[in-house]
Amino acid sequence: MKLVIGNDHAGVEFKEKIVKALEEKGYEVINVGTNSLDSVDYPDIAALVCEKVLDGKAKYGIIICGTGIGISIAANKIKGIRAALVYNEFTARLSRLHNDANVIALGARVIGDELGLACIETFINTEFEGGRHARRVNKIEKC
Ligand code: RB5
Repeated sequence: MKLVIGNDHAGVEFKEKIVKALEEKGYEVINVGTNSLDSVDYPDIAALVCEKVLDGKAKYGIIICGTGIGISIAANKIKGIRAALVYNEFTARLSRLHNDANVIALGARVIGDELGLACIETFINTEFEGGRHARRVNKIEKC
């Protein structure tokens, strides 16, 4: 499975650990985030990640900033993107089951490496349930 990951300066170390772990598990990860601690603007990173998801270069996107809040707000302004800011495996699973989220957002200053990785794995391995949830997701897409 191909994934795209992007982070601002607050998420460099976290991103590095996540990419290493995902690659060890056999996932292909496109890194469009910064690898430097110099300050960058998270909306620019959100745009790079979402572009790859929307053009099919990656199945899911992973976006990281300090809290996950700014970058998820930015991603959700992009049509076709449903970014879920998650804090645990339950919200990661439900964001796929019910919301068909195509991007997962994490706060590097909020969540530990192991829990972050568990959230990502839960997210990418959970299928959308469809049914009544599809009706709601379709309404979001019409906004
Ligand atoms: C950067 O200092 C910080 O504001 C950013 O990473 C993020 O937490 C914004 O929501």
